[in-house]
Amino acid sequence: TGMFTYDPGFLATASCESAITYIDGDKGQLLYRGYPIDQLAKSCDFMDVSYLILNGELPNAAQKSEFDSLVTHHSLVHEQLHFFLRGFRRDAHPMAVLTGLVGALSAFYHDSTDITNPRHREISAIRLIAKMPTLVAMAYKYSQGQPFIYPQNDLSYTGNFVRMMFATPCEDYKVNDVVERALDRIFILHADHEQNASTSTVRLCGSSGTNPFAAIAAGVACLWGPAHGGANEACLQMLEDLQANGGIAKVGEFMEKVKDKNSGVRLMGFGHRVYKNYDPRAKLMQETCKEVLSALGLENDPLFKLAMELERIALEDPYFVERKLYPNVDFYSGIVQRAIGIPTSLFTAIFALARTVGWIAQWNEMLSDPEYKIGRPRQLYTGAVVRDVPAQR
Ligand code: CMC
Repeated sequence: TGMFTYDPGFLATASCESAITYIDGDKGQLLYRGYPIDQLAKSCDFMDVSYLILNGELPNAAQKSEFDSLVTHHSLVHEQLHFFLRGFRRDAHPMAVLTGLVGALSAFYHDSTDITNPRHREISAIRLIAKMPTLVAMAYKYSQGQPFIYPQNDLSYTGNFVRMMFATPCEDYKVNDVVERALDRIFILHADHEQNASTSTVRLCGSSGTNPFAAIAAGVACLWGPAHGGANEACLQMLEDLQANGGIAKVGEFMEKVKDKNSGVRLMGFGHRVYKNYDPRAKLMQETCKEVLSALGLENDPLFKLAMELERIALEDPYFVERKLYPNVDFYSGIVQRAIGIPTSLFTAIFALARTVGWIAQWNEMLSDPEYKIGRPRQLYTGAVVRDVPAQR
């Protein structure tokens, strides 16, 4: 092609330098700023990890408390945004609502629109991280026809989200520790994953110099697709279908279908393009899954028994072992979210909430790079050669 290379899907093209996340698929390794994901998941909360992803280092106690308080004090959204939300149908998909709400934020924060000013970029980052839980919970409450629950400043980031999701104004609500910890872990495990489709979308969109709310809305839109953030929803759908069609008694038959290449059926939540050894996030999510099911007394719930049975068979079956097909993070995260009462249609919105910190850190990294340029892929033109418009048509 002379001037440029043809690389559909960017399988062989690095689009940027980045110092945020490192993945080694063969080793099953995921690092945020050099720290292994399992160590972060065990010793840090989502605010520590967000600070780390944004700033490059873990916060000390004073930095943590300042960051916490900054995020907490930006968690309210402009009251007018409630009216914007009310324009949606109640049965709108939460990702449709979220794409709209995040994009609409750009119309509310005119005080920090200079993206060349690092201070403005920082405020926008804090606002987005702080407001995402509020927006996701608003979308959920709206779909249920329930009143919105406003953020409460003495709760943790994740505790606050749990309360905004599940509390009602009619009763005192106490956040369940196990639920809070489980969601916090889901947030940590989904916070960044280097140049995946939605992150690349945020960078490309942001490279035009558009405002961060618009760039993140583009990321939300991209994440929505079933080949990306939509996989955990697909996994739960599979479990529900199997349950409705015979449940555990039909697992053997279902697995035969999965192994039959002509059936077109895959075991959703298994296999990964990059992790061929194991998905380090899945191991951590599996722990959380066991903890949540036992703490909530759901070990005997038929759907969860079914999931555990599929997992048991797949981990022993030579078909999966030979092809290095292990459960991925979505297999367990779907089960955990269902166990804590999050409806399947909201799973991808929760993923978006968690990934916002990664998106905004990558956007900021791009704008801080003195070499940054507007993204402008080339093409191989395959259309008609030059020709004249006929004189008579
Ligand atoms: N069930 C049954 N067979 C499978 C599965 C599966 N889930 N995944 C892969 N295979 C088989 C595939 O048929 C092929 O067999 P053969 O070599 O005999 O033709 C072999 O394993 C290799 O598969 P592949 O399609 O070449 O692998 P890939 O790297 O292109 O696909 C994947 C990765 C994630 C798309 C795929 O494993 C899959 O479709 N999994 C189910 C969907 C899913 O859970 N997706 C979530 C991914 S993690 C979320 C994220 O990070 O965004």
